[in-house]
Amino acid sequence: MTSTADTNTTTTDTATGAATGGRLGPEALRERALEALTTARERTALLTDSVDDGELTAQHSPLMSPLVWDLAHIGNQEEQWLWREVAGRDALRPEIDPLYDAFAHPRSERPSLPLLGPSEARAYAADVRTRVLDVLTEVRPDGRPLLDEGFAFGMIAQHEQQHDETMLITHQLRKGPAALDAPPPPVHPATPLPAEVLIPGGPFTMGTSDEPWALDNERPAHVRTVPAFHIDTVPVTNGAYLAFMADGGYTERRWWQPEGWAQIREHGIVAPLFWRQENGQWLRRRFGVTEPVPEDEPVVHVSWYEADAYARWVGRRLPTEAEWEKAARHDPVTGRSHRYPWGDADPGPDHANLGQRHLRPARAGSYPAGASPLGVRQLIGDVWEWTASDFLPYPGFRAFPYKEYSEVFFGPDHKVLRGGSFAVDAVACRGTFRNWDYPVRRQIFAGFRTARSAELD
Ligand code: AVJ
Ligand code: FE
Repeated sequence: MTSTADTNTTTTDTATGAATGGRLGPEALRERALEALTTARERTALLTDSVDDGELTAQHSPLMSPLVWDLAHIGNQEEQWLWREVAGRDALRPEIDPLYDAFAHPRSERPSLPLLGPSEARAYAADVRTRVLDVLTEVRPDGRPLLDEGFAFGMIAQHEQQHDETMLITHQLRKGPAALDAPPPPVHPATPLPAEVLIPGGPFTMGTSDEPWALDNERPAHVRTVPAFHIDTVPVTNGAYLAFMADGGYTERRWWQPEGWAQIREHGIVAPLFWRQENGQWLRRRFGVTEPVPEDEPVVHVSWYEADAYARWVGRRLPTEAEWEKAARHDPVTGRSHRYPWGDADPGPDHANLGQRHLRPARAGSYPAGASPLGVRQLIGDVWEWTASDFLPYPGFRAFPYKEYSEVFFGPDHKVLRGGSFAVDAVACRGTFRNWDYPVRRQIFAGFRTARSAELD
């Protein structure tokens, strides 16, 4: 990977933890790969064993695949990359490749394909996994970039976890009684926090060249100069969003981009997705349970247009992607960019609400141990955060190992989301991790925080 001239500001530093940073021996790498793959498969099993076969093959929303498609697609990607490409073995089921090629069939058409049924899909994914774990013991670094630091295994574990989040979205969209359960997020003592934090202007290192399992769009590390700005200490809450609604936020055209205005008019949108009003009270449906909207929780299930309109209403704007990453990674004392807001340690349960441990965001102001050096909270976990930026390649980007992960999505159609939600596993979440989606999307676990430029002081 090419590294840009960033030796003063430094790229991601070598981690102290065993997970990344310093180069690991083949034994430790194998253990890490095994752990990441196993964690992902346990979550896949939870998501696909918690509903019956009829629900696995049903399409719960035209926006989503049937769960049984995700399940076999997970196995098929693993077969293509780990069994065929890494281990060099013959295809197990070449005839099903086109069925599980995300580009060959839009989600809405997938239910009409001759897909593997639930038991066949389970058996296929399990067969691929057994074979992959068998060859894992033989895999040695051989100079191929795909094998460097176990990248292919990390990529496939992240791929499965990403589809686990997709399947959790399908669970949220499905009708009927709850199929999943999890304890509520921890309650951290409420301390008074400033509404915003000043991030000083100047250069910082964005992206990474040395995080072993970082995906192609996070690379390479490069210096960005970001003028001073203020950013919200915590994500925008339901309570704050309700004030926007009560002030006629959805009826005043001046807050909205034309495409956003057209969307809310056409679909009669007056609140975040999954909300409804009953006897003057706002309720939300969350994984099959209807409950009052909690005012102190980050708002979730809003489009980029809704986030943008709220920010204008409050006299602010969405942060750019570079601003978000600087707030999350830049250490103003050392000038270095950390892997996470709290430093370089892998995320633990005290740092952030990740990994579907809880089925909701934590109250705004939670996770003091996950704060950035300047005191910005909940940048990682809870809700994906919409940024002002289009999804574009960094200078020096190279598609790796395939163009269809990132490259084909670059351009003005997609907005970048950062930080990960409660539904993102730690293996697929970093200060450098980039997600993207269409600005109209509302079913994803997305919220936002706002910012303002400091020159306007
Ligand atoms: C990075 C979440 C936008 O789900 O479309 C899964 C991840 N890429 N399989 C998506 C992905 C290929 C991707 N996102
Ligand atoms: Fe995929």
